[in-house]
Amino acid sequence: MQQKMLTGKDVAEHNNKDSCWIILHGKAYDVTEFLSKHPGGPTAIFKYAGKDATEGFEPIHPPEILDEHLDRSKHLGKVDMSTVTAEEKPFDPEEESRQQRIASKPSLAQCFNLHDFESVAKQVMKKIAWGYYSSGADDEITLRENHSAYHKIWFRPRVLVDVEEVNSSTSMLGSKCSVPFYVTATALGKLGDPEGEVVLTRAAGRHGVIQMIPTLSSCSFDEIVDAKKGDQVQWLQLYVNKDREITKRIVQHAEGRGCKGLFITVDAPQLGRREKDIRTKFNGAASDVQKNNPDTINRSQGVARAISGFIDPSLSWKDIPYFKSITKMPIVLKGVQRVEDVLKAIEYGIPAVVLSNHGGRQLDTAPSAIEILAEVMPELRRRNLHDRIEVYIDGGVRRATDIIKALCLGAKGVGIGRPFLYAMSAYGEQGVVHAMQLLKDEFEMGMRLVGAKSVDELGPELVDARGLGAHTVPTPVDSLSSDVYDRLVLPPFAVKAKL
Ligand SMILES: Cc1cc2nc3c(=O)[nH]c(=O)nc-3n(C[C@H](O)[C@H](O)[C@H](O)COP(=O)(O)O)c2cc1C
Repeated sequence: MQQKMLTGKDVAEHNNKDSCWIILHGKAYDVTEFLSKHPGGPTAIFKYAGKDATEGFEPIHPPEILDEHLDRSKHLGKVDMSTVTAEEKPFDPEEESRQQRIASKPSLAQCFNLHDFESVAKQVMKKIAWGYYSSGADDEITLRENHSAYHKIWFRPRVLVDVEEVNSSTSMLGSKCSVPFYVTATALGKLGDPEGEVVLTRAAGRHGVIQMIPTLSSCSFDEIVDAKKGDQVQWLQLYVNKDREITKRIVQHAEGRGCKGLFITVDAPQLGRREKDIRTKFNGAASDVQKNNPDTINRSQGVARAISGFIDPSLSWKDIPYFKSITKMPIVLKGVQRVEDVLKAIEYGIPAVVLSNHGGRQLDTAPSAIEILAEVMPELRRRNLHDRIEVYIDGGVRRATDIIKALCLGAKGVGIGRPFLYAMSAYGEQGVVHAMQLLKDEFEMGMRLVGAKSVDELGPELVDARGLGAHTVPTPVDSLSSDVYDRLVLPPFAVKAKL
């Protein structure tokens, strides 16, 4: 028998703490008992009591979350959305000036490099989204170091090499790809674009770039796989759930749907404190403070922490055999940060690691991946182990010269996170396609100028990495940089909107 549709009025009657219903994607849910369990605090849900919560909910919650956390008996059924009165949004001057900035943003052709996307994204993204994407842990020292570490490596280019034809293609975990970079896993794609991660999938597909699908995507895993074209390669990033049955289900489903690698994130037994994210979320909740009891707001959480309570902090080396027993996909440890752990991974028969500090979002003052790489590869070569494991790195890669440096030092490939998120947030799919093209063009030019026709011709003899040990970029002693040199120019907005 078909269930009777609920009306907006039915839902609106349940707008209090004793009976709290909300609408999500045209369906009603009873969240009364769940209010106190919500990782982001009860207020975040309660402000939608009796109303449609879809707009606030969607970008920051993975789609399966309701099925996992809310008992079936609380799924109340469909709502006739024509009977739900749209909420009148109060005038928001900040949103008004953001809209002006969007209308006058630089054209895509005015973006010449990945930094340009970041500068535009900062101006056009919603604060909460910018806060989540751009934040790093604590004082954001590692975040900055990730980028500046590449400036401490200088090239030793080879000349008079015939570089008329340059081949940028390579393979990663046995899969062919057009370039040695991949889209790394970044959660909550819908904060940047209403379509979410599928935008990255389509752009990656057009360029023959591998995509790592995050556990905490805004689109469902299947939507992201469905968006791939032909034999486009995807990997799965896994946050290991305390409930191993859930983990097993996710892994085996991904393998069944053709994923070619399982990247287990090992640098996040607890999510780092990203204070910018926490502050934006807290300020966003400030208006609720007036309406509700301020003590009910969970002040310790940003978006990141609020969605990650399921991650198992007890995950350890002893779990590796378990993962090997549930999948045939190559298992990769993402977030390794020292030579000793790379050696241990080899002992455990792990075929690849990603040296990474999670984009500076976890342990602040953890070293950059490129610095660890410079330590790891000579040690592997010394022990004759360099062919036993593929080493990937991510964090702070913004130029193709960064990628070339990483490959020279022995990386098999390089993950890129924020730049593609920023390109997507500012310009959608076209933005990501353009960003990838810019990187490809830079890569080809960099290869020519360094004197290499293919990626296997890149080696440590082409770089001087002695400066990597210096962990601070020295402050200039003269005033040339502040008083004389021109600042790098950013792509211009058409109208001088309030920034
Ligand atoms: C917004 C954002 C979300 C992220 N989400 C995840 C995640 O869900 N799982 C994960 O293993 N790493 C995650 N990362 C880390 C990235 O996979 C990668 O290590 C990092 O972004 C690389 O640094 P980059 O952004 O400077 O390129 C995230 C990074 C960002 C910026």
